[in-house]
Amino acid sequence: MAIKEFGVGQNIVGRGLADLEKYGSKGCGYFGKVLMSSGEKPVLGSKVLVDLAQPHLVLICGKRGYGKSYSMAVLLEEMARLPVEVKQRISVITIDTVGIFWSLKLPRREKLEQLADWDLRPGPTEVRVLVPAGKLDFYKSKKIPIDGAFTLKASELDAVEWMALFRLTWADKEGILITRAVETVKEQLGTYYGIDDIIAAIKRDKGSEASTRQAVINRVKAAKAWGLIEKKGTKISEIAKPGAITVIDVSAYRQAIGMEGTKDIIVALLGKKLFEERMLYRKEEEMRLVRGEKRESAMPIVWMFIDEAHMFMPKGEDNIALKVLLEWVRVGRQPGLSLVLATQRPEKLHPDAISQCDLFISHRMTSQPDIQAVSALRPSYMHQDFDRYYHEMPKGKGFALIVDDKTEKVLMLKVRPRFSWDAGVTASAFVR
Ligand SMILES: Nc1ncnc2c1ncn2[C@@H]1O[C@H](COP(=O)(O)OP(=O)(O)O)[C@@H](O)[C@H]1O
Ligand SMILES: [Mg+2]
Repeated sequence: MAIKEFGVGQNIVGRGLADLEKYGSKGCGYFGKVLMSSGEKPVLGSKVLVDLAQPHLVLICGKRGYGKSYSMAVLLEEMARLPVEVKQRISVITIDTVGIFWSLKLPRREKLEQLADWDLRPGPTEVRVLVPAGKLDFYKSKKIPIDGAFTLKASELDAVEWMALFRLTWADKEGILITRAVETVKEQLGTYYGIDDIIAAIKRDKGSEASTRQAVINRVKAAKAWGLIEKKGTKISEIAKPGAITVIDVSAYRQAIGMEGTKDIIVALLGKKLFEERMLYRKEEEMRLVRGEKRESAMPIVWMFIDEAHMFMPKGEDNIALKVLLEWVRVGRQPGLSLVLATQRPEKLHPDAISQCDLFISHRMTSQPDIQAVSALRPSYMHQDFDRYYHEMPKGKGFALIVDDKTEKVLMLKVRPRFSWDAGVTASAFVR
């Protein structure tokens, strides 16, 4: 193993020299320890800290079951433990499609010796779990502790989003009709209307056949029953709260037939609103700096964590969230928008999400097409191919390779054990 690449002392990734001198390790999170030897039981060396105070695009890869969600949870635990003055400027939003991140709230109760080995202790993490308003019963029946519900504002869905929701296109008669109906209500009612108004507009539509109208009405009525889209909608400032770690749990839509589009719409609308607001506030922040005032605005910088990111950012396919997330990926760091994307199928992920990442974290990978996909990254400071790193990586869970553009470091590490309970294990038992 190329030990010479692995530094001694404290390893900070994602933070350049100038910031390191200015801030030290403040605003960094404890992610793991570097490997000091090869083999399945490697000697662990110095700590690896990850910069969480500045915008990044973090990509976490690895085959199923090797620690992607776990590593995300570790980062979330660290986010929650940032010093208050840093934390207050950050808002974290986690899109949870599987329903596993709520358990961050609970202290760990199993395998406590893992924590003891690291001189760490179990503890709860302060997270806020929000679920779609119409699905409250689902979460209550699963005894998932939730903190609130959210809805989307109907007028924020444009015709394309309605079509995406129902998997319709312009080529469908139904697609054309929903477009016309949405445009009509927008014209007549502005930004305050609900699903019933759209249904009324469909009923009044003259340019369509009765059977098409009925088909669309059925779909829109079904959408009403989801309890997600409402006249009022939750304010984005309510969702992206400064200092809060928010889990948006959309797992209720996971297996529901005909609702596949809902999680995409949630991500697309949240992503779009956050992008717009951050752009606005960024200007406000700059004006303050120009006037010699402190840099602070009501809208914090945002970190969005997306597990199973290939679902929202597929390669060679369309998704209503894709366009929005690509904007985050390409220009988001400037207005302060960070993404942490995790996927077991980098080959299925939009290539921009790979090429634009500045912090690459990879657990074990064995599938050649997936390794090929990330090989596109191979920066000049990496001294050997990804293949070799994966070959050298211990086969256990929680080992990872980090490639950091900021410091041009390549590290092999073990991710630290979680403080909180890991619902990943139990949740899969539920389903089966
Ligand atoms: N850093 C780690 N330390 C200890 N166990 C880990 C670590 N990372 C993962 N694991 C174990 O592996 C399991 C699967 O990890 P998970 O993150 O759910 O995989 P996936 O990559 O599919 O998201 C976890 O439930 C946990 O038991
Ligand atoms: Mg996972």
